[in-house]
Amino acid sequence: MSKTATIAIDDKTIDLPVIVGTENEVAIDIQKLRDLTGAITLDPGYKNSGSCKSAITFLDGEEGILRYRGYSIEDLAEKSNFLEVAYLVIFGELPSTKQIETFEADIRKYTLVNEEMKGIIDGFPKHAHPMGILASLTCALTAFNPKVVDVEKEGDMYEAVCKIMGKFLVVATWAYRKTQGFPLNYYDNTLPYVDNFLQLMFKLPTGPYKINPVVLNAIDKLFILHADHEQNCSTSTVRMVGSAHAGLFASISAGVSALWGPLHGGANQAVLEMLEEIQKDGGDADKYLAKAKDKNDPFRLMGFGHRVYKNFDPRARIIKKAADEVLAELGVNDPILKIAKDLEEMALKDEYFVARNLYPNVDFYSGIIYRALGIPTEMFTVMFAIGRLPGWVAQWKEMRENKEPIGRPRQVYVGEPLRPFKEMSNR
Ligand code: CMC
Repeated sequence: MSKTATIAIDDKTIDLPVIVGTENEVAIDIQKLRDLTGAITLDPGYKNSGSCKSAITFLDGEEGILRYRGYSIEDLAEKSNFLEVAYLVIFGELPSTKQIETFEADIRKYTLVNEEMKGIIDGFPKHAHPMGILASLTCALTAFNPKVVDVEKEGDMYEAVCKIMGKFLVVATWAYRKTQGFPLNYYDNTLPYVDNFLQLMFKLPTGPYKINPVVLNAIDKLFILHADHEQNCSTSTVRMVGSAHAGLFASISAGVSALWGPLHGGANQAVLEMLEEIQKDGGDADKYLAKAKDKNDPFRLMGFGHRVYKNFDPRARIIKKAADEVLAELGVNDPILKIAKDLEEMALKDEYFVARNLYPNVDFYSGIIYRALGIPTEMFTVMFAIGRLPGWVAQWKEMRENKEPIGRPRQVYVGEPLRPFKEMSNR
């Protein structure tokens, strides 16, 4: 691979450095482009632009590869658990027994959320979208924990990581409890992290709550699969907000808002809404497959296709198995899930979908699992957010530790050139 790329513009020719990553990803380093030529690059949607160098996640969309810190997603989903993976993603190495025990014990120090936060929740209407509640509560955590993280001090950063890991899980489940009208639960420091998610969500004051190991395993896997996905929309948002030296909690709150969008984390909600629409319309999966292929119809099959995975989504393969296990364990007989299975089978055989490499993505199967567990559709993206938290934290930490400059893209102005002010009488 050449060490430089040559660019010619007008009468100038310049050489720009070529950077090669550890997995042979090639990038032209254009940091000096404007200084040397006066020109900038234009890349809406950033399909060709790297915003940073990162050592956290590697993904190859063509080959269907996803790795955190060099470990394959398949190995991590099979052999590890969510808290270990969170440690790996945030701190760079798989933890020893002692390290993970200490990490979990340190998270437990911060699992109590200020009671005054409940006053904020009371202000929301019962029908408020849980993602709106989560974004607000996460930002409010900044007010209750105002100490700015001094990234130069390892202790400060570590404390902030433990705090957000503890409190975010609690407020995320509170967003659900609010919409159900249930009393808000407390974290149980005698239980592991993901078990806590289940009891925070589902334990009622009227009786004991028994954790089903098949359900626990599926949720743990889902969180692992969502833990990071390199520079996606919400993660880039977290890095961008953090690049202005906004605090960790405020940056993560911005990430929650970005994740809410239906083209990003909101897709798992959109999948179920689509399935419900198909059911209401008579349950004809064939009809909707045809609509998705019709170029004059804006309808798209939600949960199919991916911006980067143009082969298959490796996470979808893992979670499909967990989805099958959960459905078998719970013995769910749900017409919506039958429509999902029909769509999946038809699309996988359909020429249009095969030719465009449109496979079911992780959101397709995660939506099915959540539905089977009785989690309301509006909570699906919150589930994604809980899983993605370690990734957001790791990316924020990396960005600050690498002393990245404030994110400030340029633009090509295409508006009116200078014109004389028009007096009111002439408008
Ligand atoms: N249904 C029908 N046709 C589709 C679909 C779909 N879901 N997705 C893409 N296509 C077609 C599209 O019409 C285009 O066809 P043609 O080449 O004939 O014009 C071709 O496939 C390429 O589509 P694109 O829009 O250029 O692809 P993209 O990489 O820009 O979009 C996507 C990726 C995920 C936004 C898109 O596939 C989509 O809208 N999928 C449904 C929403 C969804 O499930 N999103 C979740 C993504 S995974 C969550 C995450 O990681 O954030």
